[in-house]
Amino acid sequence: MTQQQTAGGDVRLTGISKAYGSFTAVHPLDLTVPQGSFFALLGASGCGKTTTLRMIAGLEDATTGAVFLGGSDITGLPPHKRPVNTVFQSYALFPHLDVTENIAFGLRRRGIRQVGKQVEQMLELVQLGDLARRRPHQLSGGQQQRVAVARALINHPRVLLLDEPLGALDLKLRRRMQLELKRIQTEVGITFIHVTHDQEEAMTMADTVAVMNGGRVEQLGAPAELYENPRTTFVANFLGTSNLIEAEIVSAGAALVVSAAGSTLRLPGDRSTAPAKEGGRLLLGVRPEKISLARAEDAGTVPGTRNRITGRITGSSFIGVSTQYVVESPAGTALQVYEQNAGDRRGLAPGTEVVLHWDPAHTFALDAAQDIDAGVRSVEDAA
Ligand SMILES: Nc1ncnc2c1ncn2[C@@H]1O[C@H](COP(=O)(O)OP(=O)(O)OP(=O)(O)O)[C@@H](O)[C@H]1O
Ligand SMILES: [Mg+2]
Repeated sequence: MTQQQTAGGDVRLTGISKAYGSFTAVHPLDLTVPQGSFFALLGASGCGKTTTLRMIAGLEDATTGAVFLGGSDITGLPPHKRPVNTVFQSYALFPHLDVTENIAFGLRRRGIRQVGKQVEQMLELVQLGDLARRRPHQLSGGQQQRVAVARALINHPRVLLLDEPLGALDLKLRRRMQLELKRIQTEVGITFIHVTHDQEEAMTMADTVAVMNGGRVEQLGAPAELYENPRTTFVANFLGTSNLIEAEIVSAGAALVVSAAGSTLRLPGDRSTAPAKEGGRLLLGVRPEKISLARAEDAGTVPGTRNRITGRITGSSFIGVSTQYVVESPAGTALQVYEQNAGDRRGLAPGTEVVLHWDPAHTFALDAAQDIDAGVRSVEDAA
């Protein structure tokens, strides 16, 4: 892998865009996918993920811009001349060929006769050695998926493109295949570019995630970075759940002091992407699992260093690992709180008056000029 890295096999998109008539599916996009990384394009249906992937594969002509692979401009190359292979959601295996011959297909097409050793290596890589003589209809969805991956990898592409490759699998199998694909990628060390609308899938597998919205990349980064420091309301809402509260800046400095929901709240100044101007407005964000609940009568036990808002529980659902509470508060929107089920479960009943409190460091802030609900609908659509 180190060798490949010095060879410089990064995928680089410069100003690449796609228009269909007057409709722009992908706005000019600059993006670098480092050699050997697992990269995910994440976004709701119709945001331009497949179009971007197809421009990298050469299956779609770019309206503007260029695609580089390891420093060479491959924009003008037809698909079969690009050192790139694609795995689609419908695996498109050959029904009349067994697993071995499906995997060997790319080699045979290039006139290579001695395929045994390479096929064997691939069967081992995807752990299908026992099923080598089966036909696709005798395999489970996950097994077919692995044949499709092996069939692409045997061509030694420098980049493997995956377009919703796990979409047809049920949830449990999907989770297992996510780990499996990650293992395969680590083992072969080539670049994977994976398209998905499932935020958990992107976060589980990818080193870097690009969140797309309406044909643009809104934010790009490591999963934890995107989750902890979303820069837009779309990313805050699309990636997990965020409580966003309208607030007014009381004082700006190393720490921001804001007034929201009848309380004075604090956050580190560098966790805000909003203009820091006294009297200005911003959207304060905090993730549901960062918030703790105390009964109103125990409010005195909450340390003074914590951010706090008072409220009343209006709903609770027990979901095994945690209990999810909905809390009504002067913040306007219903706040979400996730409480881990460790030890004694309190099961706070609806109607209970509570204090929500959290570490100011776990607070972020966004520009208030944005739609506070951006990305909320997309999550429902994608589900
Ligand atoms: N050949 C085409 N002609 C016109 N519009 C197109 C064409 N192909 C795609 N589009 C439009 O471009 C936009 C982006 O499509 P794309 O297939 O890239 O979305 P996607 O992010 O992959 O969505 P999904 O998650 O549903 O697969 C969509 O609005 C789609 O309707
Ligand atoms: Mg698509």
